Formats: sequence, C-alpha cells, structure tokens
Amino acid sequence: MKNHDSAFAGTSEPLLDLAALRADTPGCEEVIHFNNAGCGLMARPVLQAMLDHLRLEAAIGGYEASAARAGEVADFYASLAELLGTRPGNIAFAASATHAYTKALSAIDFRPDDVILTTRNDFISNQIAFLALRKRHGVRIVHAPDHPDGSGVDVDAMAALMRSHRPRLVAVTHVPTNSGLVQPVAEIGRHCRELDLLYLVDACQSVGQYPVDVEEIGCDLLTATCRKFLRGPRGSGFLYVSDRVLQAGCEPLYIDMHGARWVAPGYYRPVDTAARFEEWEFPYATVLGCAAATRYALRVGLEPVSRRTPALAGRLREQLAALAGVRTLDGGPAPAALVTFTIEGWEAAPFKAALDERRINSALSYREFAQYDFADKDVEWCLRLSPHYYNTEDEVDAVAGAVAELARSAR
Ligand SMILES: Cc1ncc(COP(=O)(O)O)c(C=O)c1O
Repeated sequence: MKNHDSAFAGTSEPLLDLAALRADTPGCEEVIHFNNAGCGLMARPVLQAMLDHLRLEAAIGGYEASAARAGEVADFYASLAELLGTRPGNIAFAASATHAYTKALSAIDFRPDDVILTTRNDFISNQIAFLALRKRHGVRIVHAPDHPDGSGVDVDAMAALMRSHRPRLVAVTHVPTNSGLVQPVAEIGRHCRELDLLYLVDACQSVGQYPVDVEEIGCDLLTATCRKFLRGPRGSGFLYVSDRVLQAGCEPLYIDMHGARWVAPGYYRPVDTAARFEEWEFPYATVLGCAAATRYALRVGLEPVSRRTPALAGRLREQLAALAGVRTLDGGPAPAALVTFTIEGWEAAPFKAALDERRINSALSYREFAQYDFADKDVEWCLRLSPHYYNTEDEVDAVAGAVAELARSAR
C-alpha cells in the first residue's frame, strides 16, 4: 500500500500534485468518473482505514475494535470541526444527509400555520419532508422567488418574506442536486441572524468542493453527506448543530441511550453535545473512512480544490454549450462543478447507457427531482456530469468529445 503522504509531497499552492492524487485514487484507472455529485471516488487512505477496521472487528470483536480505535473515532468530529470552522461537540454522525436533515427537522416543535421559508431549488427530499410536515402539523411552505437575472434565490425578496412571515424555519440548499447553481447562503444567513430566525443549510454538494464555514454562513444547523465531494464512503453524513440550538435545549423527537442519560425512572436528560442527535449503534468502519476522507480533503486544501473543480466543470460546460442540439442549464454567475444539459434526439436511459459504454460515469436528473427548477427550464430530464479536482483536462475534453459524437449521431 502506497504511503498517502506522497500525494502531498512537493505540492505547492495553487498547484495540486495531480499525478500523485490520481495514483491515490484507484478508480482513476478504471473509469472517467464524472459523477462526484452522486458519489466521489474514495482515495486509498479512506479505503485502507475502512478495511483495517473491518479486519480488526473480525480479529478482536466489534465493541473491542471501536474501543481500540477511540482516538481515530474522535477524529471524525475533530476533522469535520476543522473543516467547518466549529468544535467537535457541534458535530453529529448520521447515516446520510437526509437522515441528518430529518433528525434536525424532528427537533423543531412545529405548530399549525408555522412557516417554513425555503427556495425553489431546495433538494427533493427536503421538499417532501416539508410537505409531510404540512400534512401532519399544518405548517405553511413558502418558496422565495428566484432573482430574474437567473442568479438563484432573490435575497432581498427572501428577506422581505422573513420580515412578513417570521418563519419558524429558513431552509436553503447551498448547491442543488439538479444544477450547478450556488445559492448565497451567507447573505441569507446575515438576515437570519439579524432577525433571529432558525436557519438550516443543506450543504450536501458544497462540502468537499468549497470551503464551508458555519460561522461565516451564520447557520444554526447544517447537513451533508460524506460520500460526494468529500470522497468518503457511502452510508455516511453529518449534522452540524450550533451552540445556540444546543443551549436552547433542542433535541430530536426520538432520542436514545447515546443521546440522553436516563437519570431517573421517569426522567432523561439530553447530553450537552450534538451527540444527542446520534444513535448508539455506529458503522465504525464507515465513521473511520469519513475521518480519513476529511483529513485527506484538509490536506489537499479546500482553497485549491474550490478553484480547480468548478474550473474543470466550466471547461466542460463551455464545450458542451457550443454543440448543436445541446442545451446547458446551469445558472448563476459562478456555477459549481455540476454540469447539467439536455441533448436533442436522445431519451434519458439510452443516452446515459451510451456514456456508460464509454466508461464515463454520469447521472440523470428527472422533473420530479426539481419540480420548480425543471418547470422553469421546461425540461423533463437532463444529464449531470460532475468532475472533481482529481479529474484531468484531457478527461474533460474526452467527455465533451463523446457527447459531441452522440449529439451528431442523433441528428
Ligand atoms: C443537495 C442535496 N441534498 C441532499 C442530498 C441527500 O443526500 P443523502 O442521499 O446522503 O441523503 C443530496 C443527494 O444527492 C443532494 O444533492
């Protein structure tokens, strides 16, 4: 097994040692992986941390293995705290971003007519959760309008809605799953702080792609997965919980023996930290894989990553936009590394299959993933290509070439 330190040796900002980073990524030899918005390729140290732990569990027992690796488990919290600009006690492990999100929602004591203020680009499962809250508790869901210039949500209009509705919750997805749009979460956060409104940010597509600082955003709660741009394993995510929320005594609806102490037969007390949002049982190999992925991201550096990754996507978007029959769909002045487009003459599944055949990984998005955004754009489906910093300019050009060939063959 290669020593992963070599990937960083001699790396001088702003250049990443691409050859070493790719050598650290076994999947680079197999595929052109442009589905990082689905799930990033794991680096060797992530894989190794997980395999080592599974072997240890088999060798000495699962409980004993987690006790033996307590320091590395603690680094899950320490590394994510460093990544997000907070403290380890403000981080909770979750099985997915959605698990983290619904745990957070469950801590809010919604009453009939409470308003959830959100955007037209919030993630599908978040929107479904809001509708479920409407069904059960009679909350009202208000979608702030987009800015007419296509730059995402209209922050002034959203702030006006904050003042008129005094929402129980403001919920914004930083980078939606259905386009490369980057929402102005910090600007929205300043209004939330000024008006003392509870603010939940879905940072699933931005963590690992950009520096994400919870203090700068001004959020109370933030959720993400570890498997996308952070390049961690599947089945993992986390919830950031601010001191404000912890000190206010917020707790999830269902809290277990890890999240609370049963201090008397008729009484429990939530723990002081964000661990109150976790459950007792953990997939420890996964947790250690996440810690390794977060350390890896910190060592590569989020600043160079945030320059290279959207720039690679920009190169791809530009080439696709120049093709006859192809329409790129991403809005905003500086789109993220999610390139979405439609192509004339193709159905969704065969088009993706044609890319699969060329060993190009991609993803499809359908109208139901983005009812508002895709209605505005008048599209039923699109293909999403999402490179990451370890992809190369040659891969970008090869993918653009493949799409050009497929566009021609349909005409
Ligand atoms: C913006 C956004 N939020 C949330 C999620 C849900 O993440 P998970 O599948 O880990 O629940 C996704 C997944 O694609 C996403 O893109």
